[in-house]
Amino acid sequence: MNSRILGTGSYVPDRILTNADLEKMVETSDSWIVERTGIRERRLVGPGEACSDLATKAAEKALAQAGLQASQLDLIIVGTCTGDSPLPSTACLVQQRIGATRAAAFDLNAACCGFVYALALANSYVKTGLRYVLVIGAEVMSSITDWTDRNTCVLFGDGAGAVVVGKSEGEDGILSIHLHGDGDHAELIQVPGGGSRIPASEDTLNAKLQFVKMKGNETFKVAVKTMEDSVNEVLTFNHVSTDDVDVFVPHQANIRILKAVAQRLKFPLEKTVVNLDRFGNTSAASIPLALDEAVLAGRVRQGNLVLLAAFGAGLTWASGLIRW
Ligand code: UT7
Repeated sequence: MNSRILGTGSYVPDRILTNADLEKMVETSDSWIVERTGIRERRLVGPGEACSDLATKAAEKALAQAGLQASQLDLIIVGTCTGDSPLPSTACLVQQRIGATRAAAFDLNAACCGFVYALALANSYVKTGLRYVLVIGAEVMSSITDWTDRNTCVLFGDGAGAVVVGKSEGEDGILSIHLHGDGDHAELIQVPGGGSRIPASEDTLNAKLQFVKMKGNETFKVAVKTMEDSVNEVLTFNHVSTDDVDVFVPHQANIRILKAVAQRLKFPLEKTVVNLDRFGNTSAASIPLALDEAVLAGRVRQGNLVLLAAFGAGLTWASGLIRW
């Protein structure tokens, strides 16, 4: 018995930050950002808006598309590294807001792979007896962004995407998901302060340790390699080739990464869903946001083979294959 995605939903905040806006904030240019990343604009939360607000709106849309009530959910998993606060979990806040009175709820931190990791759990839970699991990827990356650091502030955005996972009656659904982690590369992308190693203090705030630091160039190289490897892994496992894939929904970090991966896999870029030009890198939200857009645009149809691949801090990397 497979599990399958019964409905998708997404939400991005209204506020748009363009490359022209960033030119006024740091020493950068629209042409550098577009050429080096493909990003033209990103969405940012407004005052008082937090991760659970975005997650709730995406979840409500996914439930509506699935034709389900929140009270039917057994479990809610939110993939995020920018939850409302360390405690309680953002998933519990969503659970209360949507009225999922029967659902257990927890957050999962696998950085940009958070959604695919959470989808893997949902797949297992449904196969072992739960009926409906809500999986959300939601991030307010702007809350951990140093807006004076041009190396990172041009990259990230805020948003949320959600799917409802339930039983499949046929052969369709989630075929397999493959997860990986490697703490040897933990220093490539990190938020050094604010945890138990370096608790928040006046000194840590002055040193800006609450913000994301990234070794962009090294991350880029690892990203291309791990994306290529994990796509090959999931395709080999399912005895299919890139030719069989109808739609590729990758983590949206950088258009140059996506082009390099497509080239190495000899995979036409036209099959790849790209929305990073409008939303930047929204970490765990990026795949479910792109997936929902592709579903709504009619790019993902029944019977299609849909490929997912992500990488992120940890390092983590992951891939999945779905017969829609
Ligand atoms: O989802 C999380 C995973 N993260 C990623 O996937 C990010 C992966 N990395 C990247 O996407 C790219 O490495 C970046 C977009 C972050 C940077 O692009 P790059 O081509 O690797 O640039 P670089 O870091 O090698 O820097 C090239 C130059 C440097 O100047 P010098 O040292 O050559 O004089 C940077 O200081 O570009 C400079 N630079 C900028 N210039 C204008 C860096 N950021 C900017 C900027 N505007 N925003």
